[in-house]
Amino acid sequence: MPHAKTTPFAMPLPEALAHVDRVFGIDAILADEGTDILKPYYVQSEPGYKRVHSEKGCMHMALNPDGVYTADGYFAQIRDVAYQIRQVQGTSVLELGSGMGFNTIALAPDHPDVQFTGLDLMEHHVKTANKDAGHLPNATFRQGSYTDIPADLHGADVVFGLETLCYAEDLDAVAAQIAGAMAPGGRFVMYDGFRRADFDAAPEDVRTAARLFEVTTAVTGGFHMIEAWEAALTRAGLVVLRSEDLTDQSIAGMRYLHNRAAKFFRSWKYRVLKHVMPKYLIRNAVAGLVGPYMIEGAGPNSGDTMGAITYSVLMAEKPR
Ligand SMILES: C[S@@+](CC[C@H](N)C(=O)[O-])C[C@H]1O[C@@H](n2cnc3c(N)ncnc32)[C@H](O)[C@@H]1O
Repeated sequence: MPHAKTTPFAMPLPEALAHVDRVFGIDAILADEGTDILKPYYVQSEPGYKRVHSEKGCMHMALNPDGVYTADGYFAQIRDVAYQIRQVQGTSVLELGSGMGFNTIALAPDHPDVQFTGLDLMEHHVKTANKDAGHLPNATFRQGSYTDIPADLHGADVVFGLETLCYAEDLDAVAAQIAGAMAPGGRFVMYDGFRRADFDAAPEDVRTAARLFEVTTAVTGGFHMIEAWEAALTRAGLVVLRSEDLTDQSIAGMRYLHNRAAKFFRSWKYRVLKHVMPKYLIRNAVAGLVGPYMIEGAGPNSGDTMGAITYSVLMAEKPR
């Protein structure tokens, strides 16, 4: 893994888990596993995403292939989607879980002949996105769920979702919705976190880091395995064209957030925020702190590099 230029870990994993336990209680966080906290999490977290991510409204991980964090990394996934639009000469694009609109708002100006629609569960995200897209005649955002994609959005040449399909519960049902929304010959692209197929073989503290990350980002059912998504998309009639582990590229961004979070855990001045800020918002600091361990293992410096989670891309095509 290309660690040479990457910011080092702020502390070893046992110290990080001790910090989390002292400030929040590991058991108290994990008690939310299997419960539905999606809506309060996103209502409370919006200001946090706006502050911590350097790009306005961006709610996904940066990908920095050369191992140095830069905000340009937030556009890596978007450039891939743009490539797919060109490949199929698309005229309509549907973004699932479009959040505050960062991706579609970045894509729309470069593709004036393409109609973009973003679909998101959270009304306040849709409102923010529509406000920020006011100057774009070819981008609109709607409230709705990818578990029930409105029929008038069907026929999209490209359907994509960045770090949103981790929240899907019934993969077959959502895969069928995705396939139903795609035009024949259309492309589907998703970027997300996934549990590794050998998740259970990872060291216990690495699995604990992964579970803490999952719960504190509201993925309370745990990340899916990419193999499960591949199978569901295939059963829905799509042909998987690409399934690639990009974890290396997410390391720099994860470590950047980790070092910011470490400041919170180390300083009492920051820790008092826990008492004044909403619970799910402040718990994002846990995800920030433990993120690198779940993808890189307990300590790349000590040689223990077995992670439990990958950051990957999955792409599929709907046959004509
Ligand atoms: C981590 S954010 C990513 C937002 C956006 N894709 C981005 O890259 O900035 C996940 C988004 O998925 C949305 N979401 C979760 N479940 C959803 C569902 N069933 N249908 C539509 N959106 C959903 C959330 O409201 C949130 O905006």
